[in-house]
Amino acid sequence: MEELKGLSALITGGSKGIGYGVAEAMVKLGMNVAITSRSKDEVTNAAATLSKLGPGRAIGLKCDVRDYSAQRNVVDQAVHEFGKLDAVVANAGVGRFASIDEMTLDNWNDTIDINLTGVFYTVKASLEALKESQGFLVTIASLAGSNFFARGAAYNASKFGLVGFTQAVMLDVRDAGVRVSTIMPGSVASHFAGHTPTESDSWKIQPEDVGRLVVDLLRMPARTLPSKVEVRPARPKKSK
Ligand SMILES: NC(=O)c1ccc[n+]([C@@H]2O[C@H](COP(=O)([O-])OP(=O)(O)OC[C@H]3O[C@@H](n4cnc5c(N)ncnc54)[C@H](OP(=O)(O)O)[C@@H]3O)[C@@H](O)[C@H]2O)c1
Repeated sequence: MEELKGLSALITGGSKGIGYGVAEAMVKLGMNVAITSRSKDEVTNAAATLSKLGPGRAIGLKCDVRDYSAQRNVVDQAVHEFGKLDAVVANAGVGRFASIDEMTLDNWNDTIDINLTGVFYTVKASLEALKESQGFLVTIASLAGSNFFARGAAYNASKFGLVGFTQAVMLDVRDAGVRVSTIMPGSVASHFAGHTPTESDSWKIQPEDVGRLVVDLLRMPARTLPSKVEVRPARPKKSK
């Protein structure tokens, strides 16, 4: 894993859950990371904890992915702090689940603005930096980006959209030397949709497992691109 030491990454929504698991995997390998979230306290505390796990170090920046100019500032700060940006993980996302009868306009707009437009903003804000570093962009989609379910209209729409968006961007930028991949996880033990992870989530994918997947992608020979990765619990809990 020596080859990742000294590389730098930006992870949106890195204060907890999957984003934190990705940041943890990176700093343990000597990468420097900038993580973001909407809560200044949470993201600052998470970065302090991550830096103690180093050799790599972490900075925490408050940024709502719905704010394009804030995302540009975050990219500028990360490049200023680390000298370059080798990887961007567009991870921030929310889960609002309701039938179409119950779906409010606010829930729909939040879901699309954060899970889809927010990723578009992350990509627009960081693409020049990634071209410069010949870097890697990873989006965290979901199996809900190919499997639809009742009460999932907004979430499915955002994740189906994100999978299509990411694959099209991959084709747009691969000749410029930027590799793009989307990860589509099944159930992950995180704080998603107001959940609190407990012992009973041990059958699920753990955030650090997604972290391992991301660093494995970064280690792929430059000639090879796993552009869409599905990942699911090996033994899903049967619903009774
Ligand atoms: N957990 C699962 O089973 C699962 C499965 C497949 C895909 N995913 C996807 O994985 C991604 C991460 O989710 P998670 O499971 O790790 O959830 P999580 O534990 O709730 O973490 C979500 C992270 O995103 C941040 N965030 C939320 N809205 C944001 C915004 N508008 N701007 C910036 N940051 C924001 C949160 O911090 P703040 O709230 O403080 O902003 C937090 O750091 C999401 O895209 C989700 O759709 C999750």
